Amino acid sequence: MLTWLDQRTGAMTALKDFLTEDVPGGASYWYAFGSATVFAMMVQIVTGIFLCFYYAPSTSTAYESTKFLIEKVPAGHLVLSLHYWGASAMIAFMAMHLLQALLWGAYKKPRELQWVVGVTLFIITLVLGLTGYLLPWDLNALLASRVAINVAGNAPILGPALLNFLQDGSGINTLTINRFFGIHVWLMPALLVGLVAMHLAIFRWNGPAGPPVDEAPKLKPGRFWPDQLFMDTVLSFAMFVIIFALSVFSPAPLDDKADLNNAVFVPYPAWYFLALYAALDVVGNFPPAIVQIASLFATIVGPTLLILLLFALPFIDKNPSRRPSRRPWVLAITALVMVGAIGLSFVGQRNVVEQQLAHNIIGPNAAVASVAKTGGTLETGPAGTASSTSSTATQGGTTPVTAGAGATVYTTNCAGCHAAAGTGLAGQFPPLAGNSFVTGDKNKVIGVVLNGLSSKIEVNGTTYNSPMPAWKGQLTNKQIADVITYIRNAWGNKGTTVTEADVSAYKP
Ligand code: HEC
Repeated sequence: MLTWLDQRTGAMTALKDFLTEDVPGGASYWYAFGSATVFAMMVQIVTGIFLCFYYAPSTSTAYESTKFLIEKVPAGHLVLSLHYWGASAMIAFMAMHLLQALLWGAYKKPRELQWVVGVTLFIITLVLGLTGYLLPWDLNALLASRVAINVAGNAPILGPALLNFLQDGSGINTLTINRFFGIHVWLMPALLVGLVAMHLAIFRWNGPAGPPVDEAPKLKPGRFWPDQLFMDTVLSFAMFVIIFALSVFSPAPLDDKADLNNAVFVPYPAWYFLALYAALDVVGNFPPAIVQIASLFATIVGPTLLILLLFALPFIDKNPSRRPSRRPWVLAITALVMVGAIGLSFVGQRNVVEQQLAHNIIGPNAAVASVAKTGGTLETGPAGTASSTSSTATQGGTTPVTAGAGATVYTTNCAGCHAAAGTGLAGQFPPLAGNSFVTGDKNKVIGVVLNGLSSKIEVNGTTYNSPMPAWKGQLTNKQIADVITYIRNAWGNKGTTVTEADVSAYKP
């Protein structure tokens, strides 16, 4: 029967060809990263198709259908978690595979195109990770994706078009979820599968690169079947055991439903984007004059240059030797980039944890601490009197506006977005320090704080287009007056005082 099949399709001959390949220098676990990545991809495709049976992309169903899957569907949470951890595994193994090709000089002639396709696959996988992050439509999905969308929107020239495409309109809503869904389940997977096939076909044509030596390996070549295939299977299986265990013991999280006005939640990016997130955070503290250019560099220009460098590597690095000792430059630069990325990731991780802590202790500690720092007039008397924004405001009720009262309102309600030092977050939340709107016409500032703002604005050359919540009804007129006076005079700002009467008298 097999002969019959082979005569008509060539399937058995092709399989035999495929399996009887020589592996220069012998089979090795070092060569198994690529096949483990392919295996992770298969896990993602199978679990992803299953998730599609339940997931419904829209603002009123995305979160609900995910919750339903987790709570009601048998093994639903397990499959979702396998997809969640599988994504991490795929990226981790792909990164190791790429790093190995880089360190072993496997991208050199004649494998340049295999390398180029490989780098493209890496980018596609990162896009898959990014677009998948929004789909559960919980707080973290929305608020972390908003950072990414705004970063893309700030790209020079292409930014506005990119923003419009990603959001599919002016805000993040059902159309955004649909765009991300379409990219995540159709566009990227189709490209991925096609390019993986191309990657493998080119690999077959050139054969394995073997160990990083210049002369042909002296050892007898190993065989793909069964030696290498056995090792590939062992590594893939070990990976599956790990993601299965993680899925059981640490299943995929789901926060509360997405809410653009939630000012307290601190979004955490996926680990493979932590370095970028940290870079954004770090440059946010630069002096206002250069913060815009610095954030452009950290989030767009820098990463783009790195990717272009990766693509161009086989064409720049013409050195024919593959021995590590003869390639100090490539290895040194790789080490530098790796140390930088890992270091920044730790900074990013620490920042997220710090911010989460800061938000959790909002109330007694945060209020007293911030007033003490800004030299306000609040007395640290019995805990009760100084413990909350409202008591601070009452205390300052009859006295003239105090920096302390405004500072407390600010720390509790505004600093989550505009940052403690009023520096905001480039492209996300406008800086209030060094912002002429803030120190200008007080009636206009009162209007923004009372009623919120959702139109596109420009501050010091950077565009902002996320919504600012309305505070009418959330804060008293007195608190609004205090906080506006505070932001008009903190961090080197110079503006006039705003009184409770000004706020009551506000006319659009
Ligand atoms: C959820 C995040 C968030 C919180 C919390 C927040 N803001 Fe904003 N704020 C924004 C965003 C985003 C904008 C820009 C709005 C736009 O682009 O339309 C903004 C704009 C402003 C502006 C106008 C700046 C300009 O140049 O036009 C002022 C003033 C302001 N906020 C003050 C405050 C004060 C005071 C508080 C606390 C009571 C506060 N914000 C709390 C996100 C926030």
